[in-house]
Amino acid sequence: MGNRDMPEGRPRAEQSAGDGVHGAVSVADEENPFADPGVPPHEHRIQDIDERAAKRSERAVALLFTVSMLATIGFIVSYLLIPNDKSVFVFPLGHLSAMNFALGLTLGVALFCIGAGAVHWARTLMSDVEIADDRHPIEASPEVRAKVHADFRQGAAESGFGRRKLIRNTLLGAMALVPLTGLMLLGGLGPAPGTKLRHTLWAKGKRLVNMNTNQPLRPEDVAVGSLTFAMPDGLAEHDEDFQNEIAKAALMIVRLQPDDIKDKRELDWSHQGIVAYSKICTHVGCPISLYEQQTHHVLCPCHQSTFDLTDGARVIFGPAGHALPQLRIGVDSEGYLQALGDFEEPVGPAFWERG
Ligand code: FES
Repeated sequence: MGNRDMPEGRPRAEQSAGDGVHGAVSVADEENPFADPGVPPHEHRIQDIDERAAKRSERAVALLFTVSMLATIGFIVSYLLIPNDKSVFVFPLGHLSAMNFALGLTLGVALFCIGAGAVHWARTLMSDVEIADDRHPIEASPEVRAKVHADFRQGAAESGFGRRKLIRNTLLGAMALVPLTGLMLLGGLGPAPGTKLRHTLWAKGKRLVNMNTNQPLRPEDVAVGSLTFAMPDGLAEHDEDFQNEIAKAALMIVRLQPDDIKDKRELDWSHQGIVAYSKICTHVGCPISLYEQQTHHVLCPCHQSTFDLTDGARVIFGPAGHALPQLRIGVDSEGYLQALGDFEEPVGPAFWERG
């Protein structure tokens, strides 16, 4: 920094000597048992004494901010133009998604260049004067606050933010463009779910398939006192959407004595005492897996919500807020258990909470 940047126009060397900061030492005595080693003599940076070096630094900072802008534009272009399924080989990482690689690289460069530009600016062009200040009480007096404001204004002036328009403008451009990367990523959240959460794969005529054996279930396969898990016919574990669909369609099948069923609708929707309920807990969606034969209660292992299968699977204990949805079932012409429609309520918890 040249003399034109010195506060009140004083050359730094003069100012430091006048302040008694550089090279000042004190000796230990009874009041101050530790000697103050003082501050080493100040060394001017090349940019402080050579205007051409200062200009070079200014251009380097501006270049970094410009590269940041270009990287942000590269991020946006990558997001818009690179196909989702394109992969690229990157040594030594192997095959990667081309879009993820391009997004990570461009965003990394954009942020790095802003940081590197700011650091280079501070190290080479902003004021290099070391200042020593006495400790003072935490509570600031009006005079101190006024001094802080004055120092702040002086710091702003010394940083050259207003004067070095190239740096200021490229920094503002880089900072303005970087948030666009976040906006672009919002597009990656995918399409709105629409009414998908209202429906499952269950439909009239869909057979109930045992999830363990992958075989369609007949009424005689369901023994009294057993708990069987079922999924819709046609859904296979290797299906791309398997996890999404099974998370809505998973069923618990239990055979009860028809006389034990207290709820009339439950009885109407069952077949020979076999009832089919959603396996997804209505609290926060854990799969229900515990069945008490004696009481016909099913228990969610996550937070112990308990549902009474003889009474419409209503909640008798725990935090769940709703009964488990029941699936209406019957048998088809070949004697296999089948659904007589989809669930009449959405399954799981979150959908309910959203109303
Ligand atoms: S998820 Fe079932 S009780 Fe919490």
